[in-house]
Amino acid sequence: MRYKLFGRHTGLRVSELALGTGNFGTGWGHGAERDEARSIFDGYVAAGGNFIDTADTYQVGQSEALLGDFIAADRDYFVLATKYTLGAGPQGKNPVADLARTGNSRKTMIRAVEDSLKRLKTDRIDLLWTHMADGLTPMEEILRGFDDLSRSGKILHAGLSNFPAWRIARAATLAELRNTLPLAGIQVEYSLAERTPDRELLPMAEALGLGAALWSPLGGGFLTGKYREQQEASRLTKLGMLVHTEKSARETALLDAVLAVAAQVGAPASHVAIAWLRAKAARSSTSLIPILGPRTRAQLDGTLGALSLQLDAAQVAALDAVSAVPLGVPHEQLQASLPRLAGGVLDKLDLPPLPVA
Ligand SMILES: NC(=O)c1ccc[n+]([C@@H]2O[C@H](COP(=O)([O-])OP(=O)(O)OC[C@H]3O[C@@H](n4cnc5c(N)ncnc54)[C@H](OP(=O)(O)O)[C@@H]3O)[C@@H](O)[C@H]2O)c1
Repeated sequence: MRYKLFGRHTGLRVSELALGTGNFGTGWGHGAERDEARSIFDGYVAAGGNFIDTADTYQVGQSEALLGDFIAADRDYFVLATKYTLGAGPQGKNPVADLARTGNSRKTMIRAVEDSLKRLKTDRIDLLWTHMADGLTPMEEILRGFDDLSRSGKILHAGLSNFPAWRIARAATLAELRNTLPLAGIQVEYSLAERTPDRELLPMAEALGLGAALWSPLGGGFLTGKYREQQEASRLTKLGMLVHTEKSARETALLDAVLAVAAQVGAPASHVAIAWLRAKAARSSTSLIPILGPRTRAQLDGTLGALSLQLDAAQVAALDAVSAVPLGVPHEQLQASLPRLAGGVLDKLDLPPLPVA
């Protein structure tokens, strides 16, 4: 495992792969029991990992509670990230109570953090994420909550997960101008199966120096190819959420291409998916950190094998091509008009790659 700074606004040194713990616990009816979760955690630490991702809502609070036990012996070893917005408790019993427990508001944030600290059995969170935009709370309120919590020592850094790029860019600028807690990074779904962050979110993270934690690096299991054949209980059959499937010819072509490269290099498809992300990270000017989501120790061990796989340029290019999404307006217009703008001297201009900051 190698280590990186998480973005350019923190001194946090994190391992190049984070451990996602959405599968720690069984509160959602699909996940890992305590012993299996402990074994995954130990395997990740043994491989050199130090960056842990959880959320109050994962497995209805069980993920944080299990992690609280696992990190207790050496709390400072870990960069511990959690999230608030969706609430830890089971919802739907009392809609008015749900109003107070969910969303992005400062009230929800402060109370959720206090509850997370209890479950995690620690006195601070290294990185707090707002889990997803509620579409209601003003950014000023979120930033004020982050700043209050950092000044009180309950959180050290903060970031935005699943927010539109324009809101994140505005938040980063506001925090910078007001000299309040800087935005550390973004968390977003990104993999061969989900390349739309190439349009705005990842170029923004690079330009603004935000770290990027990438969730569902295997497309929720899709990129392993196993759901083509597997009949036994899986996330696809038991959880049914956050899993890409072959719902179009495009996805079938993508999975065929991943499996073809896997056959070429003699490794599982999961290695190819992670190795492609590592190749992307190596070309990025900010830290791109895939968040692994194993449900078993065998899955973790299997995926970690990707650390010793390096794809060659032709393999990366083939995967880039089959997974690319149209960048749309204005990016494609810019690319098309660049030669005209540069007049007759294009071959003499040293230009940064588009899109530029
Ligand atoms: N911010 C957010 O909104 C957000 C959203 C989602 C996730 N996350 C974070 O990102 C983490 C990872 O996301 P994810 O769980 O969707 O990641 P993922 O790795 O794309 O999918 C995980 C699933 O893939 C399968 N799998 C994993 N490794 C495998 C292997 N080596 N061989 C075969 N199958 C394998 C398992 O499916 P089966 O269970 O079917 O075996 C597992 O449940 C989460 O734990 C969480 O921390 C954040």
